[in-house]
Amino acid sequence: MLDRFRVRPEGPACSSAEICVADDKWGDQMSTERFPHPTLSRRNGALVVEEVALASIVERFGTPAYVYSKRAIVEAYQSYTRALAAIPHQICYALKANSNLGVIDILAREGAGFDIVSQGELMRVIAAGADPSKVIFSGVAKTAKEMDFALKQGIGCFIVESEPELERLQMVAKSIGRRAPITFRVNPDVDAKTHPYISTGLKGNKFGVAYNDAHRLYLRAAAMPNIEIIGIECHIGSQLMELSPYEEALVKLLELTDLLEKQGVHFEHIDLGGGLGINYANDDTVGLPAFAAMISKHLAGRKQTLFLEPGRSIVGNSGVLLTNVEYVKTGEAKNFCIVDAGMNDLLRPSLYAAHHEIVNVVEHPHISDAVFDIVGPVCESTCFLGKERVLRVQEGDTLAVLSAGAYGFVMASNYNTRVKPCEVMIDDKRATVIREREQIESLFSNEHRIRD
Ligand code: LLP
Repeated sequence: MLDRFRVRPEGPACSSAEICVADDKWGDQMSTERFPHPTLSRRNGALVVEEVALASIVERFGTPAYVYSKRAIVEAYQSYTRALAAIPHQICYALKANSNLGVIDILAREGAGFDIVSQGELMRVIAAGADPSKVIFSGVAKTAKEMDFALKQGIGCFIVESEPELERLQMVAKSIGRRAPITFRVNPDVDAKTHPYISTGLKGNKFGVAYNDAHRLYLRAAAMPNIEIIGIECHIGSQLMELSPYEEALVKLLELTDLLEKQGVHFEHIDLGGGLGINYANDDTVGLPAFAAMISKHLAGRKQTLFLEPGRSIVGNSGVLLTNVEYVKTGEAKNFCIVDAGMNDLLRPSLYAAHHEIVNVVEHPHISDAVFDIVGPVCESTCFLGKERVLRVQEGDTLAVLSAGAYGFVMASNYNTRVKPCEVMIDDKRATVIREREQIESLFSNEHRIRD
C-alpha cells in the first residue's frame, strides 16, 4: 500500500525511501511557459513533474533535492530506439551521466546496455540486476584489478584506449584463462565543436589510440591469443550540437574497418560513442531523425550492429535540482539570491560556465522582476548556479534548476562538509526516494585522529 501524501510542515525531511502519492491540488490550468523537459509543466502557477507538484516534494523531502521523471527517461530512451528502428543497434547508456540504481533499473528494463568507466560503475550495474554481458568498459586508466573483475563478470567488451592497456589486458586474461572481447577507441582527430573541456576526439586529447596507429594495433591485437576483436569505437565529445563531426568520424572509422576486414579482422559492431547535445536554453539540437538518417546512409548494406553510448541525452532533461532561497541580498552593484545548493551539489556552472535555466517552483505575480546572481553557500566565488537571471523571488521560495538530470548528482562532492542531496524519482503520481540525503555524521565517521 502506498502512503497517502500529507503535508508535514514541521516534520523532518524524510530520510528513508518513502513513497508518496501527490494531492491533486494544483488543478489543470496550464501556463504557456516552455521548458526543455518533456514532463515538466506549470499548472495554476505550480511547477509539476508528471503528476506531482514539486512543492510537495520539498515539503516532504526537503532541499536541496534532485528530482527525476521516469517518463522523461523512458521517452528519451525510446526516441533512440524509434529513430534507429531500421538499423540493428544496441544503446549502451553512459552510466557516468547518472548512475543511480533507480535509473539503471529503468533503462535495463527498456533493454539498454551500459557504458561504464570503473569497477564501481560495473558493480552498480550488477547491483541493479542488469546484465554484465551488455556492458562495455571505457576509460584510459583501467587497472589490472578492474580488468580481472570485469572479465570474471563476463563483461561484453573492453574499449581499449592504448597499446600498454592492450598488453595488460592480454596478460590479465591469460592469467585467468579467458579471452577478452575488445574494441579499440580510435581517436579520429575530428573537432567536435563543443566546450574544450568535453571535447575528446582531437589528437591533443588523452583519449583513444591515434587514428594513424589504429591499423597496426588491430593487427597486433588480432595476433594475441587472449584477445578477441569484436568492434571499433570512437567518442569525440559531449554536448555536440552539429551533425558533421559525427559523420566525419564515422566515415573515418568505416575506412579503417574496410581495410582491416580485407586483412581478415572481423567486426561485429561499430560504436559511434555518445555526445548528442540537449536543449539547455532554446538550443538547436541535432535531432535524432537527422542523426539516424546520416548513420543509416553510411551503414546501409553493412553487417555490423551499431552501438551508441548516450548519457546526457537520455537523462539530462529528466531532472531538476530543487533549492531553497535562504536570503535575498540586494546590493549596489548586484543582487544576490542566496540558495541552499552550491557548486558541491551542481558543479557544471562553475566548471564549464554551463547554463541551466532556473525558475521559481511557485509563481509570484505580485512581486516585481529583478536581476539576480543565484549563488550557493560554498566559500568560493565560483559557487554560483546562474548569473544575471531575471526572477520574481523572495526568501523561503524554492527554485528549480533545470536540465540537471545528467552530470548533476554524479559530480556532487562533500566540499565544505556538505551532505549530498537526496534523489527522488517521479513515476506518474508517485515519488520515491532513490537515494537518501546523506547524514552529516557519516561524512567523517571513517576518519581517525592520530594517537598521542
Ligand atoms: N562515451 C564515452 C566514452 C564518454 O566519455 C562519454 C562522456 C559518453 C559516452 C557520454 O556522453 P554524453 O552522451 O553524455 O554526452 N561532465 C561533463 C560531461 C563529460 C562527458 C564525459 N564523457 C558535463 O557536465 O557536461
